[in-house]
Amino acid sequence: QTCILIGAPVDSGKRRRGCLMGPDAYRTAGLAEALRDLGHGVQDRGDVRPAPFTPKPHAKLHALEETIAWTTALAEAAEAGLRDGLPIFMGGDHALSLGTVLGAMRHSEAQNRPLFVLWLDAHSDFHTPETTDSGNLHGTPLGYVTGRPDFDGFPEIPMPLAQDNIAIIGLRSVDSAERAALQDTTVQRVDMREIDETGIAKPLSGFLERVARSNGMLHVSLDVDFLDPSVAPAVGTTVPGGATIREGHLVMEMLHDSGLMTSLDLVELNPFLDERGRTAQVMVDLAASALGRRVFDRPTRAF
Ligand code: ARG
Ligand code: MN
Ligand code: MN
Ligand code: MN
Repeated sequence: QTCILIGAPVDSGKRRRGCLMGPDAYRTAGLAEALRDLGHGVQDRGDVRPAPFTPKPHAKLHALEETIAWTTALAEAAEAGLRDGLPIFMGGDHALSLGTVLGAMRHSEAQNRPLFVLWLDAHSDFHTPETTDSGNLHGTPLGYVTGRPDFDGFPEIPMPLAQDNIAIIGLRSVDSAERAALQDTTVQRVDMREIDETGIAKPLSGFLERVARSNGMLHVSLDVDFLDPSVAPAVGTTVPGGATIREGHLVMEMLHDSGLMTSLDLVELNPFLDERGRTAQVMVDLAASALGRRVFDRPTRAF
C-alpha cells in the first residue's frame, strides 16, 4: 500500500484563519514516519496550490473564488493520487473536500465502481451557497457532491453521489435548513444519541457492509470536531459532547480491518489553536490506526 500525502492548506472555507498551517503540523507530528513504521510506502507530494483566481467580493459567501480555485486544483490532485495509491489529504479546512470528493467521484466513475463517503463530523456540511447562514463554504461539501443546486462557478458534478452511499457519524450540530434538507434523504445519519445508545461500531459496520456488497470505493473525511474538544481542542468549530479518543480509534481500526478505505481527508485542524501539538498528534495517531496500527493482532473480520 503506497500512502500519498497531499498537503491541502485550504483556509478559505471560513473566516477564522489558521488551517493553512495544518499540513506542516501533520508533517511535524510525524505522519509520514508513523505510516512508514507500519510498513507502508509513503510519498509526500508537498502542498497543492489553488488554480489561478481573481477574488471578487460577495454579499454573503466568504472567499468564493478562492474556494472554487481550490476545488479545481484538489479534484485533479485527488484523481492523480487515487491512480497511484491511497491519498491522504492533510488539511486545511473542510472546504477542501469539495475538491477531494469530486476527484474521487471522477476516479470511481473511470473505475466503474461506486463511490461511498464516510463523513466523521459534528456537522452535516450539507448546505448550499443559498442555504448557508454563515456564508462559510466549509459547511457545503456534502451539498455539492450530492448535486444540490446553486453551486454556480464550481466544477460540474459528473454524476451526483447517491444519498444511499453516504454516512455521517458524530452529528450534534445541524442547522435547521440542513435538517430540513436531510430529512427527505436516505443519507445515513448517526448522531451522538445513537452512538450513546447503540455504540459506534454497529452503525459503522452496517455502512461498511453496504460498501463491501457493492464493491465500492470509500472516501473517509475526518473532521477534527468529530472528536470531543477536551481531547481535540485545535479546531474553530468546537461542539461539546463529541466522540472519545477510544471511539475514534475504534472507527479507524474497523476501517483498516475492512480493507475498504481508498482515500482519507484530515480536515479542520487549526494549529494556531492547539496546545503543544496534542490535536495534531491525536489526528496522526488516528490515521495510523486507519492504516493498520494496533495493540494486538486479531482474526480479521470479513465484511
Ligand atoms: N453549519 C455551520 C455553518 O454552515 C457550521 C459548519 C461547520 N463545518 C465544518 N466543516 N466545520 O456555518
Ligand atoms: Mn508549508
Ligand atoms: Mn466538517
Ligand atoms: Mn465539523
